[in-house]
Amino acid sequence: MYHKRIKQFPEDFLFGAATSAFQVEGAADIDGRGVAVHDLQPKKEGITDFSVASDHYHHYKEDIALMKELGLKAYRLSLSWVRIMPDGKNVNPKGIEFYDRLLQEVVDNDMEPIVTIYHFEYPQALVDAYGGWSSREAIEDFEKFAAVLFENFGDRVNYWLTINEQDHLLKIPSRLGFPEEIDGKEYLKLAEQVNYNMCVATARVIKLCHEVLPHAQIGPVINPMYGIPNSNKPEDVIATMEFNELSTFYITELHCRGRFSPIHWKYMEDRDVVPEIFEEDLELMKANKPDFLGMNYYLNQTVAASQQDAIAYHEKSVFIVEEPGVYTVTDNPNIVQTDWGWNICPEGMKLAIMDFYNRYQLPVLITENGLGAHDELKDEQVEDDYRIEYIHNHLAQIKDCIGLGYPVIGYCAWSFIDLVSGREGMDKRYGFIYVNRDNDDLKDMRRIKKKSFYWYQTIIEERGESL
Ligand code: BG6
Repeated sequence: MYHKRIKQFPEDFLFGAATSAFQVEGAADIDGRGVAVHDLQPKKEGITDFSVASDHYHHYKEDIALMKELGLKAYRLSLSWVRIMPDGKNVNPKGIEFYDRLLQEVVDNDMEPIVTIYHFEYPQALVDAYGGWSSREAIEDFEKFAAVLFENFGDRVNYWLTINEQDHLLKIPSRLGFPEEIDGKEYLKLAEQVNYNMCVATARVIKLCHEVLPHAQIGPVINPMYGIPNSNKPEDVIATMEFNELSTFYITELHCRGRFSPIHWKYMEDRDVVPEIFEEDLELMKANKPDFLGMNYYLNQTVAASQQDAIAYHEKSVFIVEEPGVYTVTDNPNIVQTDWGWNICPEGMKLAIMDFYNRYQLPVLITENGLGAHDELKDEQVEDDYRIEYIHNHLAQIKDCIGLGYPVIGYCAWSFIDLVSGREGMDKRYGFIYVNRDNDDLKDMRRIKKKSFYWYQTIIEERGESL
């Protein structure tokens, strides 16, 4: 049961909200921005692309004024690699100038910028040059990009995030610039190499950050769909543990301990997809651990033992529902779902926070959490009580974790303002602020505060006392 173990959140708790560059900025062809892999994806029928998004590029001052009014202590944003380095390698001064103005505005308005170095927006030029993340060259280029950010913005940024949702990226070939039609086994092999390269790249960037910005903290962003057992049958409990290992901890074991999770290793061996590994990389990871773990949490899964007995290759989906021989994801009548079938389970967030801390003793920063919904604008208002309820229940679990002694340092709701959803365009809105546009009509891009805006404002003001 949930008990009020503390009255308020700690004074330095980072109440925040988040966005990512390609989902919010628009201005895709302006000031020398290069081509990112998603720019070349075929447009989905009835769904907008990312070219205009919420036009934050031109509205950033107005948007930051709204953040200030909301009372945010922190704003999580990502910096577009292709705005700063259009070909992935050479610096575009106009890109630096834009983020210089933007970050200064955030700092001048007394908010802590939390900067994601790489949030899905990968330069197409690097895919063309050497296959992107499948190659070790990608590690060097990621480090060079990070070095440019540290040099130009390190004086204003105390919190850095390396790669957003590596686990998620691995399940969508097109986000890495790879063809969707690639064969399952071939792709699984590639994905394991990409995973490994990204872990090495993360350690290199953590090392660099610690060397050049000793005041700053840095960590990866993981996306646990923390599994709970379907029943009290021991085989379901074991399958759940294996699910968590193969869906989440296989990455954090490399980030935080520089070793492969045994279950993950066996999984790769059985499928003949072990990547090329160098001992010095594992040493590098062991010596350069994150300062905290960034966690995006939206949903969890309910897991049972698989009744099938085969070896599966890659199912190119974000939600891998069956790993034959290991686990299967089941429906849970005790958990309600969003309109897109995502399980709403705030307790899953608490379980994930506690498990991560118990394993790694690293503070947790919630980097994303929120509810995507079909919001309706009526008489200049959006009554998004469903969003208030969702965020309320998740924040209550975080408060409880803190009360139990688990160090959660901040919470960034997804998203600060409506932006283009990864797969559903403008149909699925997440923001505290409504942007007056839809998929096929840009209208006037007017910003309208939703009911949740005023609710979150009060929560921040009272430091969560009513939660
Ligand atoms: C996270 C991403 O996976 O989930 C965001 O970091 C994304 O970029 C968010 O928008 C919600 O997913 P979706 O598909 O509903 O936009």
